[in-house]
Amino acid sequence: MDSILVKGNGPLNGQIPIAGAKNACLTLMPATLLSEEPLTLTNAPRLSDIKTMTELLQSLGAEVSGLQDGQVQAMSSHNIDNHVADYEIVRKMRASNLVLGPMLARLGQAVVSLPGGCAIGARPMDLHIHGLEALGAEIELKDGYLHAKAPRGLKGAVIELSFASVGATENIMMAATLAKGTTQIKNAAREPEIIDLADCLKKMGAHIEGAGTPVITIEGVDRLHGATHPVVTDRIELGTYMLAPAICGGEVELLGGRLDLVGAFVEKLNEAGVDVIETKAGLKVKRQGDRVKAVDVTTEPFPGFPTDLQAQMMALMCTAEGTSVLEEKIFENRFMHAPELIRMGAKIDVQGGHATVTGVDHLKGAPVMATDLRASVSLILAGLAAEGETLINRVYHLDRGYEKVVRKFSGVGAQIERIKGG
Ligand code: EPZ
Repeated sequence: MDSILVKGNGPLNGQIPIAGAKNACLTLMPATLLSEEPLTLTNAPRLSDIKTMTELLQSLGAEVSGLQDGQVQAMSSHNIDNHVADYEIVRKMRASNLVLGPMLARLGQAVVSLPGGCAIGARPMDLHIHGLEALGAEIELKDGYLHAKAPRGLKGAVIELSFASVGATENIMMAATLAKGTTQIKNAAREPEIIDLADCLKKMGAHIEGAGTPVITIEGVDRLHGATHPVVTDRIELGTYMLAPAICGGEVELLGGRLDLVGAFVEKLNEAGVDVIETKAGLKVKRQGDRVKAVDVTTEPFPGFPTDLQAQMMALMCTAEGTSVLEEKIFENRFMHAPELIRMGAKIDVQGGHATVTGVDHLKGAPVMATDLRASVSLILAGLAAEGETLINRVYHLDRGYEKVVRKFSGVGAQIERIKGG
C-alpha cells in the first residue's frame, strides 16, 4: 500500500484546478440505465470510485468507455443483460446502490447487494426502500441482497423523507422519471449534486421541477433519450483545497471554484479570519493574520456545513487560536481522524457526536493512518502545517476522491510525495 510523505514547508501560493464532482458523477453514471440511448458525461473526475462504478455498470451489460484524457464517460445501456449488482463490487462503494432506482424503472426488477457498513457508519437503506415501495416496488431482503421488482411498472406517489437523504432522493428521483403519473418527494436533499442530476435527467427528457428545494416534483414519461452533460464542480474537493492556504498561509486561487457551492463553509472560513474572493477564474483564498481563530461547526444537510468537510475543518481548528466544538450530525462515526491528529500533537476531546478542539501553536509531524476518504486528506492538511515530516499510510482511500492530489498540492509549493508501497 502506498504512503504519502508531507513536510511542513510554510505558505502556499499559486493555483489549483478543481475537478468534476465525484458524488455527482456517481449518480449521473447510473442514469444511463434509464435510457437505451447513449449518455455522455464530460468533466468527469479520474478517480477509483468512478472506475468502480464503471465496473458495476459493465457487469450489468452497459458499455462504458472512460476516455481518460478527455475525462469523458461515454455510456450506453442499450442491452442490459444482468440485473444483479454483486456484493463484491457494492461492498467497495456504497454509491453502487444508486443503480437500484434506475434498474427498477427500466427493467422492472433489480437485485442489489446491501453495501454493508463502512468506516463512517452503518449506512442503512431504509429511506431508499420506503420511497421505492411507495412507487409500487416490492422489495425484500434475502441473503444480504435487496430483491426488488415492479412487475406492473412504477406509479407516481407522494413520498415524505424522514431525513433529507442524498442517495434516497437520487434513487427515488431517477425511478420516478419513468413512473406512471406524478411523484412528489418532500424533505428532499438539496445538495448541488441533486440539481446536477435533475439537470441531466431533464436533458434526457425527464420532467422535473424543484430540484434544490425541499420539494421535488417529477412527471413520469414513457422513455428517456440520450444526452451529453458536464459534471458539476466538486464542492468537497474545492473546500478541501481552500483550507490549504488557511492552514499554511499564502494565497491560493481555486480554478473553477464557485461560491454558491460552498456558502456555509465560506461563512465559517470568514468567521475564522480567512478571506475568500471571487475571481474570473474561480475563488482566491488568503488567511488574514498568522493564525486563524477557533469557530464552532455543526454538520447539516445542504445548505448547511457539509459533513464531507468536517475532518478537513478539524485539521484547521487544531492550529487555531482558541477552542472550537465540531458537532457531527450526519454520520455516527466520523471522528476517526481525531486520534491520528492527536498523534501530531493536536488537543481533541471526542464525546459522542461532539469533538472539542483546543488549538495548539504547532502540530508535529508523525506517522499516521488514513481511515477513510475525507480523514486521509485532513491528515495531509495537518502535515502541511506541521513541523517536520508526516507519513500517511493507506492512502488508497485518497484515490477514491482526490484526483492528482500530490501534483495539486505540490503545484502551490507543498513538499509532498507519494511513496510506492509493498
Ligand atoms: C452521500 O452519501 C455522499 N456520497 C456522502 O459522501 C455524503 O457524506 C452524504 O451524501 C451526506 O452528504 C455520495 O453522494 C456517493 P445520505 P449518502 O443518504 O447518500 C442516513 C464522501 O465522502 N441514512 O444523505 O449515503 C445515513 O446512515 C461520501 O464523498 C439512513 O438512515 O448519504 C447517514 O447517517 C461519504 N437511511 C445519513 O442518513 C437511508 O436510507 C446521510 O445519508 C439513507 C441514509
